[in-house]
Amino acid sequence: MKKLIVLFVLLIGVVVFMYSILSVSLKKDVFVFEYGKQISIDEQSLFKDSFIEPDQIELDVSSIEMEDKYPKAGEYLVEVKYQVLFFNQSKTIQVKVEDRTKPEIIQKNEIKVDVNDRDHDFSSDFDIKELSDYDISFDLEKVDFSKSGIYEATILVEDIYHNVSSSSFEIEVVETVSAVQNLSTSTEVNGILVVNKKHSLPSNYAPGENIEAKNQFVKLIADMRANGLQVSDSYSGYRSYEYQNSLYWNYVNVYGQQQADTFSARAGYSEHQTGLAFDLMQPNGALLQSYNESVWLANNAHRYGFIVRYPYGKENITGYVAEPWHIRYVGEQATAIYQSGLCLEEYLGIQGGDYN
Ligand code: DAL
Ligand code: ZN
Repeated sequence: MKKLIVLFVLLIGVVVFMYSILSVSLKKDVFVFEYGKQISIDEQSLFKDSFIEPDQIELDVSSIEMEDKYPKAGEYLVEVKYQVLFFNQSKTIQVKVEDRTKPEIIQKNEIKVDVNDRDHDFSSDFDIKELSDYDISFDLEKVDFSKSGIYEATILVEDIYHNVSSSSFEIEVVETVSAVQNLSTSTEVNGILVVNKKHSLPSNYAPGENIEAKNQFVKLIADMRANGLQVSDSYSGYRSYEYQNSLYWNYVNVYGQQQADTFSARAGYSEHQTGLAFDLMQPNGALLQSYNESVWLANNAHRYGFIVRYPYGKENITGYVAEPWHIRYVGEQATAIYQSGLCLEEYLGIQGGDYN
């Protein structure tokens, strides 16, 4: 009887022992991974009980779908096979591959659209960094496409896992020159009246000297003096169509038309007819081209709303040889033009060069 009890107790002990060994449990049964990265499950740390050796554990990951080199987003069941005391056992874990990263929005360039160009493809102005498929939408409610100006808009990107990014950006609506308007007609772009060999003024356009420009010009001359620079009070500003005509033909008589065209505008094609252009002079009456003075002018004219209109190196675009003395009033946009390093034609994106 005693033996029987001992045997029974032993049997119970063995059963309890076997049960406790065989009923090992996992630390967790759901594993979440970020989409676009490798997944790895550390076999050693799978089980709460450490007596199961890693080499007795095998993961059957065949259910995980791959996409290139990374697992596709989704939920998978993975079988964990392991051995305990020569018994083959298995458990199931859940592997979730989720995209929880927001799309990244990168604006590629400044965004300028023509007046009334409502069909502009704004998505081409952005790079989106996102591994999953996504949708782009734009909020253009505040943009008035019928009027030039700078407006705020919003881009919104949502991937198929509902990660959303948005960012606001500026759209500049600009009045550009149409091909028809382009030839031998005066043109205003971004509020700047353009006069060059492709854009002329009518003979009856006679606004006289622009008061705002003149006031700024007077300040500029005063500041040059205050800086110890040599500059005359005399200048050449507004010129009527008729005056430009006689000036031009005088040059043609002396230098021939081909050469005269490199430095003197034909009537109707001179910026001086706008009342916004001024030629500075040296105290000796020559057009200003002394070194210190012209360098100062090139670097400071914008602070008064002027640009040096015919810079070195841009002769083929402006249509004229460099004129360090000729400044043109453009107002607030002068600094942006100066900082761009572009001549007016390049900055406004309009035609320049020679006469047709
Ligand atoms: N010298 C400039 C180009 C003009 O004649 O208007
Ligand atoms: Zn001039």
